[in-house]
Amino acid sequence: MSNKAILEFNGKKYEFPVYTGSENEVAMDISVLRSVTEGLITLDVGYKNTGSCSSKITFLDGEKGILRHRGYAIEDLTKKACFLEVAFLIIFGELPTKEEFEKFKVDIKKNSMVNEEMKDIVEGFPKSTHPMGMLSSLTSALTAFNPGVVNVNSKEDMYNAVTKILGKFPVLATWAHRRNNGLPLNYSDNSLDYISNIMQLMFKIPTEQYVINPIAIKALDELLILHEDHEQNCSTSTVRMVGSSGAGLFASVSAGVSALWGHLHGGANQAVLEMLEEIQKDGGDVEKFINRAKDKDDPFRLMGFGHRVYKNFDPRARIIKKAADDLFADLNLTDPVLKIAKHLEEVALKDPYFAERKLYPNVDFYSGIIYRALGIPVAMFTVMFAVGRLPGWIAQWKEMRENGEPIGRPRQLYIGEPLRPFKEFKER
Ligand code: ACO
Repeated sequence: MSNKAILEFNGKKYEFPVYTGSENEVAMDISVLRSVTEGLITLDVGYKNTGSCSSKITFLDGEKGILRHRGYAIEDLTKKACFLEVAFLIIFGELPTKEEFEKFKVDIKKNSMVNEEMKDIVEGFPKSTHPMGMLSSLTSALTAFNPGVVNVNSKEDMYNAVTKILGKFPVLATWAHRRNNGLPLNYSDNSLDYISNIMQLMFKIPTEQYVINPIAIKALDELLILHEDHEQNCSTSTVRMVGSSGAGLFASVSAGVSALWGHLHGGANQAVLEMLEEIQKDGGDVEKFINRAKDKDDPFRLMGFGHRVYKNFDPRARIIKKAADDLFADLNLTDPVLKIAKHLEEVALKDPYFAERKLYPNVDFYSGIIYRALGIPVAMFTVMFAVGRLPGWIAQWKEMRENGEPIGRPRQLYIGEPLRPFKEFKER
């Protein structure tokens, strides 16, 4: 493989270095393009071909359907590790030793209280607020109660910032649900593991004991592992971009939450379930909805299908589909919506429209069905995604700051009006 690329422009030839990643991915380094060519830039709307950074965190191969964190296969991580273990791996680069892991868990628990005054902010939201809007605002509000600047060159400062946000974020996430439902805002229970605590924060009511269901906890743990990181997706790129200006971890994560909210990204898990319910209400005719998705005059898309990077089966979707089957069998549940999802997948995968465009179920296709089986309301689906993605956002923010990356500032091709004389009111 050549280690340089040659570009011809305006009769001149320019050479650019080509770098090879550890999995043989290749990238042409155009960092001096504009200066050597006196003004030429690349145009890549939606960044389909643009590498924004070099990273050691996650490798994915969309053609082969591979996903690995720090070199470990997602299939192994979901089977053999728990959510916080994978979080430690993603954030710090290696699986924790037993001692490191025990300390990590204790340090997160020490940070599981949120300033009482944050409750006043929560109470200020109308009950109808979407929990993602609340979560983004509350995460940003944490900066007011934690004004200290993290010294990114201090390992201790970084570690403290990591455990602080991992401790507080699930509290804020679940408070959004409590506020929506007029329930008192719960405190963490530090006798519980991370995932069980999230469930009790969300569902425990003062008048009753909350009984932890280990099958449900295991399923949620696995589901959240699958969401932990996914390299430079929309929300993660947002976190890195915001952080590149020098903004702190809470502010950057708050921006990531907003980016995740959209229905083309994390918001798709809510959209999938709403779509499946609509199909069910409509009588269950999946072909009708598939035809709508294929119709270019209809804005409807098959939610939970297609991915910017995976042009093969999303490996996370495979694991989630099995997890959904296992959970339903273990809890002896049935859900007509699961049947519709399977039927929809089967019909879509056989359809040339989806095959030609390499549209496969993505991570959001079956996740909502699991959340629903666990009693998590639809409006909270994307919030759960955010809780799962938090370690990835932290790791990417940390990597970007530790590498001392420059501020993210893309260029543009201006296609507006050239200079023109100012028009007075009477001339307009
Ligand atoms: N249903 C119907 N057609 C689709 C779908 C879909 N879900 N997804 C893509 N297509 C079609 C497009 O219309 C386009 O067709 P054309 O070539 O005839 O114009 C072609 O497939 C390529 O689609 P693009 O939108 O160009 O692909 P892009 O990489 O920009 O978008 C995306 C990827 C946003 C995920 C898209 O597939 C989509 O909208 N899917 C539904 C929403 C969804 O599930 N999002 C979650 C993604 S996973 C995540 O973010 C966590």
